[in-house]
Amino acid sequence: MSSMESKIPEHRAFHPPASFARNAEVAGMDAYHALCNEAERDYEGFWSRRARDLLHWSKPFTTVLDESDAPFCRWFDGGTLNASYNCLDRHLKNGNAQKVALIFEADDGAVTQITYGELHARVCQLANGLKELGVRLGDRVVIYMPMSIEGIVAMQACARIGATHSVVFGGFSAKSLQERVVDVGAVALITADQQVRGGKNLPLKAIVDEALAMGGCAAVRAVVVYRRTGGQIEWVEGRDRWMSELVANQPQSCDAEPVDAEHPLFVLYTSGSTGKPKGVQHCTAGYLLWALMTMQWTFDLKPDDLFWCTADIGWVTGHTYIAYGPLIAGATQVVFEGVPSYPDSGRFWDMIARHKVSIFYTAPTAIRALIKAAETNADIHPKQYDLSSLRLLGTVGEPINPEVWMWYHRNIGGERCPVIDTFWQTETGGHLIAPLPGATDLVPGSCTLPLPGIQAAIVDESGVEVPNGQGGLLVVKRPWPSMIRTIWGDPERFRSAYFPAELGGNLYLAGDGAIRDEFTGYFTITGRIDDVLNVSGHRMGTMEIESALVAHPLVAEAAVVGRPDDVTGEAISAFVVLKRSLPSGDEALQLISELRNWVGSEIGPIAKPKEVRFGESLPKTRSGKIMRRLLRSIANGEEVKQDTSTLENPAILEQFSASGDSTSSRGV
Ligand code: WT7
Repeated sequence: MSSMESKIPEHRAFHPPASFARNAEVAGMDAYHALCNEAERDYEGFWSRRARDLLHWSKPFTTVLDESDAPFCRWFDGGTLNASYNCLDRHLKNGNAQKVALIFEADDGAVTQITYGELHARVCQLANGLKELGVRLGDRVVIYMPMSIEGIVAMQACARIGATHSVVFGGFSAKSLQERVVDVGAVALITADQQVRGGKNLPLKAIVDEALAMGGCAAVRAVVVYRRTGGQIEWVEGRDRWMSELVANQPQSCDAEPVDAEHPLFVLYTSGSTGKPKGVQHCTAGYLLWALMTMQWTFDLKPDDLFWCTADIGWVTGHTYIAYGPLIAGATQVVFEGVPSYPDSGRFWDMIARHKVSIFYTAPTAIRALIKAAETNADIHPKQYDLSSLRLLGTVGEPINPEVWMWYHRNIGGERCPVIDTFWQTETGGHLIAPLPGATDLVPGSCTLPLPGIQAAIVDESGVEVPNGQGGLLVVKRPWPSMIRTIWGDPERFRSAYFPAELGGNLYLAGDGAIRDEFTGYFTITGRIDDVLNVSGHRMGTMEIESALVAHPLVAEAAVVGRPDDVTGEAISAFVVLKRSLPSGDEALQLISELRNWVGSEIGPIAKPKEVRFGESLPKTRSGKIMRRLLRSIANGEEVKQDTSTLENPAILEQFSASGDSTSSRGV
């Protein structure tokens, strides 16, 4: 397991700036330890006190944690509440109706602001519209939207009436969308005519039409369409409704439906190592509680902060740290439609300067791409922009290389902003392991220590904790409020994927390798231990891509591995065996491009392999297992050092290596 091997220890440390150490939510390590001890001593009390104080309940809960059916756990039973009420109405009641909730910047730079009062009115109108369409408590609604105020309104409107939303990232293909619509059993879909990214109009409604025509979607009664561009689209009478017309005459108030604490707020699909994407089901109360607590702890949010998370609402980061966390915390946030490289790669820095962003949260892959751009074009180097409004920087989604961390700290944070490396997952609902800006000494490349209440540990393959300095599997020992509740429609898969019997059946297995520093106990994530790739912070299963490839009529067999990439973290390398003879020259190039596009239309452009190599068979052991390690070496252009004596056909290694030299699609 290469990802469990230890790495060179990193010893640079950065102390919390004095301003944070004084004013932060958790000021100093003593405060951090006090919180950890409180959770250790009285786990249920730790959570129940905060759940009671921080959330608005329609009916108070009577039980804190019910583990009688573990690993299926219930938090705050007996309580009822509404997510949208907690995110909006509460601020109106506290006199903050005039506070700006969202500052939306479109791809072309146009800016629209909307207050909490206005956002509340719009959420109510759409909630009423959804009711008019027959959407009821417990129904599922798929949201396939661009980054927009309307996308957030759609999520909040579902929550308001107790409908469970499932947001599908706008970059997914018709087939991926259809699979999710069918799996979640959606009764309605909310989309836009088109989305605009990097100066280009891209279809959304047309993809919805295609997905719904694939079959299995008869339950979808209505498609609500937000008019973003006015571009040409097809219309299905009786099914399609313009959002603007649906909401036009709706009242601007709508009672927020109190739901059970455990009511599924959303289902979000993510990739696993096997099979189809998993519908990660999150509940209402525990999820919201942690969204709010982490806004306060990890980001140290203050009332006059301007928060900006650059994620898309199609991913969990955009759920917790755009659609719910900042709103329940009553923050003002920037919401961005476009891409970091348009009109040029100074866009993020320009936006931070213009809006005076104080907390900035992005992915290492974006930083790496922007470093490259800044190095080649001095005009868009961050030093050209006034970034003095920033006080805290965050990263998420993948490991951040220490050198990239240093660049971010120096060039964006002016050496005064803590860089908070947040480790978490779709399944965890919010941050798990992350520094606290007023307490934790920062070490580049380490996500440092578990947040108070999170009992993270590193174990060996039989579930026994390993000493510091020794790598192992990252687990969480006790259930926490915002954790995944189940896989939608597949509880057995939930149990086997996250609570494997080999580890005793009661440890939450994150799926990542990790190691703790011998002296500080700090955690460093060493990467996935399963066949899950992380490309530009997007999680993808190798099996999904392999299945897409073998669905092509010319492909007999395929194996997919990840190889390190300077910008995207990992890049996808595909090894393909065709049903016909080995191609060469132009023919091979043409096939490579065809296969890449094929994967793009089967899954989505983010899954396109960076390189495709051809051979007459895949390297397998005599028992038929694909030797992925070997393929990884080839993909990395390394000499194959592993023992190949058990290989059926060693000559294919040559073929695949040579195939890379002559026909690699690198840079395509
Ligand atoms: C996987 C989860 C976290 C929300 C966005 C991605 C990797 C995530 C870090 C980090 C090292 C990280 C892990 C994890 N990951 N954050 N700070 N350092 N690795 O959510 O798509 O569910 O992916 O992303 O491998 O398991 P996701």
